[in-house]
Amino acid sequence: MSSFLTLDQINVTQQNVLVRLDLNIPIRNQEVSDDTRITRALPTLNELIKKDARIIILSHFGRPKGQVNPEFSLQPVARLLTEYLDCPVHFASDCIGEAADFAIRNTPYGGIVLLENLRFHREEEQNDPYFAQQLAQLGDIFVNDAFSCSHRAHASVVGIGDYLPIVAGRAMQAELMALQSILKEPKRPLMTIAGGSKVSTKLELLTNLVSKVDYLVLGGGMANTFLLAQGTDIGESLAEPDLIEQAHTIIAKAQENNCTLILPQDYATPDGAFKIMDIGVTSIRTIQSALDQCQTVVWNGPVGVFEVPPFDKGSVAIAHYIAQKTQEGKLVSVAGGGDTLACLNKAGVGDQLTYTSTAGGAFLEWLEGKTLAGISALLAGGSQS
Ligand code: 3PG
Repeated sequence: MSSFLTLDQINVTQQNVLVRLDLNIPIRNQEVSDDTRITRALPTLNELIKKDARIIILSHFGRPKGQVNPEFSLQPVARLLTEYLDCPVHFASDCIGEAADFAIRNTPYGGIVLLENLRFHREEEQNDPYFAQQLAQLGDIFVNDAFSCSHRAHASVVGIGDYLPIVAGRAMQAELMALQSILKEPKRPLMTIAGGSKVSTKLELLTNLVSKVDYLVLGGGMANTFLLAQGTDIGESLAEPDLIEQAHTIIAKAQENNCTLILPQDYATPDGAFKIMDIGVTSIRTIQSALDQCQTVVWNGPVGVFEVPPFDKGSVAIAHYIAQKTQEGKLVSVAGGGDTLACLNKAGVGDQLTYTSTAGGAFLEWLEGKTLAGISALLAGGSQS
């Protein structure tokens, strides 16, 4: 990858610095169930505070589809952020116009203002040039610290670069360095574990991966479609029968490319129903033996319904094994995606892999070798005028 600018190359003191974060954090019953995206943003925010920049945070939250919807307001996140920082976080009830201007004017240098959800304006997702310009007018420099949004060609990720210089924040920098150094020329054999509920969301990924990896382990609901394609009885289990043909194509492509495809051999099911909820003990052992052959593993998506015990056993056992081998120096391990991180944390090994990415969709696109729109904009450096 060619180079990009970082906070080391620009003067931010007494500048209005627009920082794109991904504050799309999981909140259930008004509680944050995973704060990794906040904690990863702290190095950039603390550095900018120390350098006396006026920090203007841009973020989306959920998918409000271009409508103002209080359910998707970032206001509670402003309160939450304050608890992680040594300074109050001001809040603006709109991300452009008078409300944004007013809040920014009333925020001192070394202070922070969080602007309301960008996706309350449909122009954000349309990458509308005028909307991007209105955002850009609020600042002097644009810092992209949201790798997990960088697969979106949205105004706050891409369009804004037509009006401001773009630099990478510390989290973005760390993410790009880690993914680049670990995955550009991974130590082989390389295994990918892909879980999650639907094949349809990962079809392209799987098709691309079988020619790149030595082992592909499938788990979660999407493995069921492959089992079905092989003629295995899956009872009432979740599957996508209309994708059986694609599953056949992926199985054939794996064979052509000497990629060992590992599907569940046994399962955990609820009492009284044949509904696959998790992989069984034999499958866990098979994956562990395959991991013994590998030098690198990339994991996206739990292999069972890990939120509902006892169907977390398979994912937790895999998490422990990967962590153990990583700690022994026998495996390079990378995991990405909200559910996978939550699963690692549940297993108590969230900090024991070589690298964990907070990104979901962006991580998958990166793995597929796609060019991420926001990363292209970062590499281009934005408008220097
Ligand atoms: C994510 O959670 O992966 C990012 O915040 C992107 O969200 P999106 O898929 O709604 O664009």
